[in-house]
Amino acid sequence: MTISTNDIRRSFLDYFGSNGHRIVPSAPLVPQNDPTLMFVNAGMVPFKNVFTGLETRPYSTATSSQKCVRAGGKHNDLDNVGYTARHHTFFEMLGNFSFGDYFKEQAITHAWTLLTKEWGLPADKLTATVFHTDDQAFDLWKKIAGLPDHRIIRIPTKDNFWAMGADGPCGPCSEIFYDHGDHIPGGPPGSPDEDGDRFVEIWNLVFMQHVQEADAIVGDLPRPSIDTGMGLERVAAVLQGVHDNYDTDTFKALIAASGALTHTATDGANQASHRVIADHLRCAGFLVADGVLPANEGRGYVLRRIMRRAMRHAHILGAKEPLMHRLVPALVTEMGAAYPELLRAQPLIEATLQQEETRFRQTLDKGLRLLDDATTGMTSGDVLAGETAFKLYDTYGFPYDLTEDALRVQGFRVDRAGFDAAMTEQKRAARAAWKGSGAKASDELWFDLAEEVGATEFTGYASDTGQGVVLALVKDGARVTSATAGEQVDVIVNQTPFYGESGGQVGDAGTIASEAGLAAEVSDTSKQLGKLWVHHARLTAGEIKVGDTVTLAIDVARRAAIRANHSATHLLHEALRQRLGTHVAQKGSLVAPERLRFDVSHPNAMSAEELAVAEAAVNAQIRRNGAVETRLMTPDDAIQMGAMALFGEKYGDEVRVVSMGSEDDGKTYSIELCGGTHVTALGDIGVFKIVGESAVSSGVRRVEALTGEAARAYLNARDEKLREAAATLKTAPDDVPARVAALVEERRRLERELAEARKALALGGGGAGGAAAPGPETVAGVAFAAQVLDGFDAKGLRGAVDDSKARIGSGVAMLVAVNDGRASVAVGVTDDLVGRFNAVDLLKRAVAALGGQGGGGRPDMAQGGGPDGTKASAAVDAVRAGLEEVAASA
Ligand code: ALA
Repeated sequence: MTISTNDIRRSFLDYFGSNGHRIVPSAPLVPQNDPTLMFVNAGMVPFKNVFTGLETRPYSTATSSQKCVRAGGKHNDLDNVGYTARHHTFFEMLGNFSFGDYFKEQAITHAWTLLTKEWGLPADKLTATVFHTDDQAFDLWKKIAGLPDHRIIRIPTKDNFWAMGADGPCGPCSEIFYDHGDHIPGGPPGSPDEDGDRFVEIWNLVFMQHVQEADAIVGDLPRPSIDTGMGLERVAAVLQGVHDNYDTDTFKALIAASGALTHTATDGANQASHRVIADHLRCAGFLVADGVLPANEGRGYVLRRIMRRAMRHAHILGAKEPLMHRLVPALVTEMGAAYPELLRAQPLIEATLQQEETRFRQTLDKGLRLLDDATTGMTSGDVLAGETAFKLYDTYGFPYDLTEDALRVQGFRVDRAGFDAAMTEQKRAARAAWKGSGAKASDELWFDLAEEVGATEFTGYASDTGQGVVLALVKDGARVTSATAGEQVDVIVNQTPFYGESGGQVGDAGTIASEAGLAAEVSDTSKQLGKLWVHHARLTAGEIKVGDTVTLAIDVARRAAIRANHSATHLLHEALRQRLGTHVAQKGSLVAPERLRFDVSHPNAMSAEELAVAEAAVNAQIRRNGAVETRLMTPDDAIQMGAMALFGEKYGDEVRVVSMGSEDDGKTYSIELCGGTHVTALGDIGVFKIVGESAVSSGVRRVEALTGEAARAYLNARDEKLREAAATLKTAPDDVPARVAALVEERRRLERELAEARKALALGGGGAGGAAAPGPETVAGVAFAAQVLDGFDAKGLRGAVDDSKARIGSGVAMLVAVNDGRASVAVGVTDDLVGRFNAVDLLKRAVAALGGQGGGGRPDMAQGGGPDGTKASAAVDAVRAGLEEVAASA
């Protein structure tokens, strides 16, 4: 019985665990602490800052089985996968680490004990190398392992000096080789035929001592440390008695699955294809599980290249249907126990692979035919024109390395320079077209920058913080190379967790900092030309320079509120459609931390009942607490799946499709195309409250709403106001409406009574509480009844003057009502006197006395007013004088 790969991993971790090492789970493949690195490519990467002393952990020794990808970037093994025994894009690195704890002697002792005692490898199969000047290591190997001098080989090259990269910890190293036996050609390390396959390096012990910058040693680590790395796949081959990594249990199982599903033999001419498929399945599966999705830039493009390369090999094997996603269960069976993230992400991995393969198949055949035509007549060693490779890339979605791989078996190469030239030419044409489009001159800066530094990678779907390298700085519309405290500057980095404003969602705020003392506040983030993230920052301390590595951290609470509001708009959209009808379509939105605004097409104002139903439906989804899922797919597939298109967004080849909530029958509640950020579970929204509904333009209504803490605070404030009202009314909050209704009714009744009382008073009837009006005086021989009333409703003036006329029988009646400082006046003349006195003439005198103008009516009744109520009795005097004047002149 040979030991399985899973058991080897376990026994390695257990060995170091039982020797006092903390067993640390693998870090994600996307580096959390190094923005210059595309993927984690060694076991020590997650511990980089622990070695240099920047970070401390509650342990000084550790062990891990770290997921690594060496594809894209500096370490790139992609091209060789499938054709050699030991190249992988994805592999696991077993390692033990000492952060200033033990050093060389203990490291060598552990390695030797595990290999020869725990795993029982024969000592005579093992050879060690040391850096040529490292006498100490040489002596230790002799002492601990008892190796003869000729099996401790001094190597003077970089092979025995390990560095993480141009920057970072480094030191001399000692490698352990396994001799697979003299039936395999090859010599020991350092010999002329060392490149043969007989002696295989299985373990590298790095004696970490120094720090380098730009490939030069610039200092020492705080304390000498240990970093070791052993490829699990290689040591599995050794322990399982095979020479080839692809003959170990894990790979055999994956290759068997690929053979079974394609009904093909797994050896002979098919061998390379099955190996590529098995390797790339692992790599793609683990990358998707760690949040990388296929894209045309950055990490996503490396993933796409790997996926498409595997898909071409599935095609070679004659697979009629997409294959890769059907292999995921085998991957999960083999590796899901050690890496639960695979299990969690299985549906996403399967969907992503299926989408990509379905889509790529649409152009794969045509592309391969073009390639066939282009290579007809070529012989081994010939070179394919770069333009053809570019056409395959541009039109048929063939990544460059796929074309290279496709030509490899026939011995053809590709003209890389020609490919690059065609790419440059395409960019030039795009630029000319862009300039011709009349774009704003101010945009030219962003266009140039985007071309120069490339698209920003947005890491904010999965992370709230991350490191980035400063690629450009812009101040007052011009590029600068640095900025200092107090300055306002736009910062562009290679990767950022900050969301750039788009699709209605506001940009993130947060901070940018560096170890060198930079502190900056980011007030907003915008997105230029759809791909350049621009952080609007104000420096509060230190300096920022192009080339700096900085830590970007979003305002987490603010973003959480934005996420809640964004997910709530999706739920609201669906709730309104269900209540009002499918004519409801999104016409715009604003998703900010403190509120959300959602505009929809709908002809009339929404009723309180309609809004209440929608609000209740959204809250029901929130309480159901369903997960929010995101998928990448083509716009067509997304629409077919029932996604609602977002307003105003331009769609590329791919869209993100966000699904959330569920109906009673299990159907998904809302499916939308959306690039925004969302809660992971709907319960995170907390509560949803509509606070307004209004018109935006004809046929477009706006709903405003709050979620989470803002909604709670709003409801609380309302409650507080109700309590205050209840206190004033001296009643319980619940009784406020009835109490207010009663008060309103009472007020109406009192107003009525008051009006009547005033009228009675005016008429001299001595009504409720009023004194009798004075009787008429006699002026120029006729009765003159005049009265000034404060607060008398002007609407009742005419009626009151009519009543007064009736009462005196023959004469002139006059009433002045004073309200809010203004006066209204009416003058009436009984019919028998109309020949002598004109009500209109008399009124004009009164109006003039009140500082007014105009007024009018008929000879028997006229009405007007003036701004100066204090002149009310002067108005009466003016009319009295008028009567006397008319009488005198008669
Ligand atoms: N960091 C060392 C390597 O990757 C162990 O080989």
